[in-house]
Formats: sequence, structure tokens, C-alpha cells
Amino acid sequence: MADKKTKKAIKAEENLKNERRFMIGPRLSFAGAEAYKLLRTNIMFSFSEDSSSDGKVIGVTSSVPGEGKSMTLLNLAYTFAESHKKVLLIEGDMRLPTLAGRLKLKNAPGLSNLLVGLNSINDAIQRFTTGKEGAPAVNVDVIVAGTIPPNPSELLGSSRLESLLAILRKNYDYIFLDQPPVTAVTDALITSSKTDGTIIVVRNNHTNRGALAETMRQLKLVDARILGFVYNGAGDDNRKYYKKGYYKKKDYYYKKT
Ligand SMILES: Nc1ncnc2c1ncn2[C@@H]1O[C@H](COP(=O)(O)OP(=O)(O)OP(=O)(O)O)[C@@H](O)[C@H]1O
Ligand SMILES: [Mg+2]
Repeated sequence: MADKKTKKAIKAEENLKNERRFMIGPRLSFAGAEAYKLLRTNIMFSFSEDSSSDGKVIGVTSSVPGEGKSMTLLNLAYTFAESHKKVLLIEGDMRLPTLAGRLKLKNAPGLSNLLVGLNSINDAIQRFTTGKEGAPAVNVDVIVAGTIPPNPSELLGSSRLESLLAILRKNYDYIFLDQPPVTAVTDALITSSKTDGTIIVVRNNHTNRGALAETMRQLKLVDARILGFVYNGAGDDNRKYYKKGYYKKKDYYYKKT
């Protein structure tokens, strides 16, 4: 039957439900929240010698699909916004966009509509507000992928993206760019040369050593500035990294290159 859900669709819905319940922003575990704060500090220190007052554009990518890039990006944006930074999230993955669904925002207008000149920046910025009960609201501005274009690589490679980022840098402290995986399509390589730094997500029991090596090689070829790695999904096997009895559960581990 046409309306019968496939096993894959059911699993995707379950994942999303779990993610909303446990893994995003205010619902992160204590250990997860602490790991993101450490990541925030490390990122801030990475730019400590930069005297420009312009906001920083940070890309998040990985070697293969499904390593947790979008989830990392959401949590990073939340953690920076929580510390009173002005934060914008841009969905640079125009092939498999997920942010509108995850944050319950409109699918368009978004980045693609801006890059073809159909909409103004103000039309495309949506606000996501969240926060812990009893605490001040945390606001993150978001530009979702927008109408899915036939030519994402060409759009991302156009000088319009640079002009757009130049304007946005004046209005935000940190801009996080969600990118597709490096070994799947060229988009992340194209956009990495326009960002101030790239974070690579690797996922426990998911990332393949060869694909990661190839990702590093390709990012170096385009002179991307690699800020470091996020190790997503470190489970019980990795408890030895953390103080006994202090962390209940560990989700993230950041290592600076
Ligand atoms: N540490 C984790 N524990 C459990 N589930 C996770 C974890 N990290 C990510 N996931 C789940 O894995 C799925 C993929 O995560 P996400 O969409 O963030 O990855 P992605 O790298 O952005 O994927 P894509 O390459 O398709 O853009 C999501 O359903 C997410 O909830
Ligand atoms: Mg993603």
C-alpha cells in the first residue's frame, strides 16, 4: 500500500524522536553539554589571534553520510548562543536538507533562494528559540537549505555565497555552516575554501579510516583550515577518558589538531 511506512521511514522517525528527547540543546546530557562547552572554548581560542571584528564562519563536515554533522552543528549553535553570542546556522547541504524538519521551520525561502537572488536575506532568516525551563530563552537564527536546486555545487561555488557571507559576518559573531560529507559530493570542498575553519565529525563504529584519510587529503588540497575533530558517539568503551563517577554518559570528545 502506498501509505504504508517503510522500515527505513519508521527508523528515521524513531531517531528523530530520540534526538528531540535527549540529544539537542537544552536536553543534552550533562556530559554532552560539558563536551560542547569545551568545544566552544577550543573554537574561540582557535580565533584568539584574529583581530578582525567580523563574525567567524565555521563549516562542519565529515567523510561519509550520517556521522552526526547536523546534530553537532545544532548543539554547537545552541552552546554558543547560550553564552550570549549572536549565532546563525546555515544549511549548506542542499541535497538532503534536514534542519527545517528538525527545528520545525519553513522549508523555504532558504540558502538556494538567496543564492539565485529570489529573496532578500531578511526573508530567509528564521528564528529558532529554545532553552531550559526557568532559564532565559536561547535564540539561534537559521537559514535553511531552501528550495532544492538542480545544481547545488554551482550555486555554492558562485561568488554570491562569498558576498552573502561578507554581509552576514557583519551581523553575527559565529556562523555555522552545515555541509554534506566530503567523499560523497564536492560541495563541502567548495564551501570550505570560503569558511574560516572546518570541523570534522567522526562517529564511533561508523567512520571508515580510508574515507577519513581521503577527506583530510582533499580538504588540505583546497587549503581548508581544519580546526579539529568531534568524536561523536563515544560509548562505554571510551569511559577511560573521563573521570570516574563524574560523567554519567559521554557523547562527544573534541581533539584539536
Ligand atoms: N551520538 C549519537 N547517538 C545516537 N544517534 C545519533 C548520534 N549522532 C547522530 N545520531 C543520529 O544519527 C542520525 C544522523 O545524524 P545527523 O543527521 O546529525 O548526521 P549527518 O552527518 O548530518 O548526516 P548526513 O550526512 O545525512 O547529513 C540522526 O538520526 C541522529 O539523530
Ligand atoms: Mg546532515
